[in-house]
Amino acid sequence: DRKAKKKKVLLMGKSGSGKTSMRSIIFSNYVAKDARRLGATIDVEHSHVKFLGNLTLNLWDCGGQDAFMENYLASQRDHVFSNVGVLIYVFDIESREFDRDMVTYSAVVRALRENSPSAAVFCLIHKMDLVQAEYRQKLFDERTNLVKERSEGFKITSFATSIWDQTLYKAWASIIYTLIPNLHVLEGYLRELAAAVEAEEIILFERTTFLVVTSVTSEIGALNPAHDRFERLSTIIKTFKQSLSRHTGLPRSSPQFAEFQVKTSRFNFFIARLTSNTYVLVVTPPGEAAFNTARINVLTARNDFA
Ligand code: GTP
Repeated sequence: DRKAKKKKVLLMGKSGSGKTSMRSIIFSNYVAKDARRLGATIDVEHSHVKFLGNLTLNLWDCGGQDAFMENYLASQRDHVFSNVGVLIYVFDIESREFDRDMVTYSAVVRALRENSPSAAVFCLIHKMDLVQAEYRQKLFDERTNLVKERSEGFKITSFATSIWDQTLYKAWASIIYTLIPNLHVLEGYLRELAAAVEAEEIILFERTTFLVVTSVTSEIGALNPAHDRFERLSTIIKTFKQSLSRHTGLPRSSPQFAEFQVKTSRFNFFIARLTSNTYVLVVTPPGEAAFNTARINVLTARNDFA
């Protein structure tokens, strides 16, 4: 039944580590609305956002202060840590009390081990922009090793992140990549489609965040000099969706555009819904034939994947 499938994504880390900032960057407008609607009824959870159909994102401050330790790690332990699909734990690289942060982290993963042993654990070593570039890698490796030692047997994946560059998008895209069901089937389909219509590039986006989860790029597509185009596209499409809601007066998450087409003398592309969780962007060479074939193919495949 549906309820059994509902898994949580916990975004944890101490107050000030950057959770709220990253949530609003990655999920942009979806949160404000959800938080307002759930508002007063939620006592312990700070805010909610739904994505990938059946996942709910929960934010938690792990201050190491008494309230957190006593409430969430003791009396609310089962409630908080059961049914967790993913834990994303944020470490502030600037924290002056790394040892204490590690104690809290250990307590959290222990509770997770007991209640959701199959959860995936990701650690973000965050605010990396505050570290001089030449020290970043070394510091990141050191911290990652220390975190791994305290991970209670969980095989963790860690990322160096900052809200001031593309690293945050890349980390979240990798996390979401692991959460999309049947992604290998979709990837096989995208490769076949790319070959069939000589697509220069095909990009798959997650529906809520519009993060790029996977892509196929041809030799010609690889000549595109815009190396950060995936991250930029995510931002552009989210901005477009915001302006849709401004101009229609509909709630921000509500206007789900069905399709978007652009035709130029150098290339054509369209963006269309592929599965319930994804949109696909297909770039074809100039001319109607490849464009139309690709479009019809995607619209047909959409029914197969539905
Ligand atoms: P609470 O709001 O207390 O729950 O903390 P939080 O974990 O949600 O942190 P929040 O997002 O409020 O960020 C705290 C401060 O860190 C803010 O001033 C942010 O601007 C800053 N911050 C967040 N991410 C980064 C980052 O990657 N680099 C830098 N330099 N500052 C960041």
